[in-house]
Amino acid sequence: MSVLIKNGRIITAVDDYTADVFIEDETVSLIGKKLDVQADTVIDASGKYVIPGGIDPHTHFDMPFGGTTSADDFETGTRAAAHGGTTTIIDFAIQTKGHSSFEALDTWHAKAEGKTAIDYGFHMILTDVEGERIKEMKRLADEGITSYKLFMAYPGVLYVDDGTLFRAMRQAGENGTMICMHAENGIVIDEIVKIALAEGKTDPKYHALTRPTRMEAEGVHRAIAIAEVANVPVYIVHLSCADALEQVVQARNRGVPAFAETCPQYLFLDHSYYEQEGFEGAKYVMTPPIREKWNQDELWRGIRFGQLQSIATDHCPFCFKDQKELGIDDFTKIPNGGPGVENRMSLVYNGGVVAGRISVNKFVELTSTAAAKTFGLFPRKGTIAVGSDADIVIFDPNRRETISVKNACTHHMNVDYNAYEGFEVQGFSETVLSRGKVIIKDCEYVGKKGDGRFQKRSLYNGLK
Ligand code: URP
Ligand code: ZN
Ligand code: ZN
Repeated sequence: MSVLIKNGRIITAVDDYTADVFIEDETVSLIGKKLDVQADTVIDASGKYVIPGGIDPHTHFDMPFGGTTSADDFETGTRAAAHGGTTTIIDFAIQTKGHSSFEALDTWHAKAEGKTAIDYGFHMILTDVEGERIKEMKRLADEGITSYKLFMAYPGVLYVDDGTLFRAMRQAGENGTMICMHAENGIVIDEIVKIALAEGKTDPKYHALTRPTRMEAEGVHRAIAIAEVANVPVYIVHLSCADALEQVVQARNRGVPAFAETCPQYLFLDHSYYEQEGFEGAKYVMTPPIREKWNQDELWRGIRFGQLQSIATDHCPFCFKDQKELGIDDFTKIPNGGPGVENRMSLVYNGGVVAGRISVNKFVELTSTAAAKTFGLFPRKGTIAVGSDADIVIFDPNRRETISVKNACTHHMNVDYNAYEGFEVQGFSETVLSRGKVIIKDCEYVGKKGDGRFQKRSLYNGLK
């Protein structure tokens, strides 16, 4: 099977030129001007960008959480991701206390296998890091699980104490793997939550008001300090605010291998969404919460100066009806998380490139290349080069769409609302190829369920 993409403007994290791309089977085999080759399928990309498929290193499909399960499973979630121009996701398997991380890995393989539209990998959430469990970490790396997520938040659920953090970090560093941190002081936050509830404050907005930015910043500071002593690279997930960013910047200035991602919700939504009428604010109950608007400029500054490396989604959707409603009388019972995997590329292009904040190359770096490099997928993924997987998006930089749960081109996620409802965006992933096969065309999924493949990831290989 061969595909020729003609006359597109090829944009990677570093290149920008017009040429043809020839794909044989699953990989790019030739790039050049006016290629004289026969192909089974020819795609004219004149006037369009030809970019590496997006990589979203932070999704939660089919995740048991908050007394329910995230609304997208690996079938609906990866299909929605594909519609939005994302061709690889890295999800999180969860090791539970007293159980082997291999049990968790088997469970997550079973959730994904045969269902996905695009390629996928797993990070491993560790909750138990004693004895045998520590030894398992090396074996996990051999299975291509080369990063772990640890939680300083959610006491009694996913939270681990500092001693556990240190043990996990030390071993991860020795094995040449990475640590992803949910950095927030969950213990203090729980105390603040108790005070709020005792005062009868039960509305969704109190989710945000009980999680001050200082408690995220403290978590980031502590996580990086422990990682520094444990000698392991650390990647702060879903960084939401200027306070927390300052801690990452200080660490990087000291030469510490500290990295961070932010997410569209922190760049495009703000605290006022919690102040809406009735229970509407529940749609935005996620952790960390969305912050005061002024933080957005600081996050963009961090992006422009390379202090924030990636934009992931933390896609963890719960339907407003029945799922978010679990917390109608008590914000602590609202399942934490929101949707976004489908809209990331358009939102970042529109809010980044169209708004004049970043270059098109930076757009590719933030949505694809950096994640590929950080998480051991580069150069197989995250770029367009001879030998790379043909995960390619034909992106129309001029096409406008209004994001809506009702728009058949912007919402395929299995959730009854869109967090960006009514946002007008310029820039749209029109045709999407996953390892050489067209899987999205004219807003239709034309791929085959189960064609996505598990990706073993390689070890961390130096400062990125
Ligand atoms: O609210 C969130 N972020 N839910 C997903 C779990 C996590 O902390 O990433
Ligand atoms: Zn988290
Ligand atoms: Zn998450």
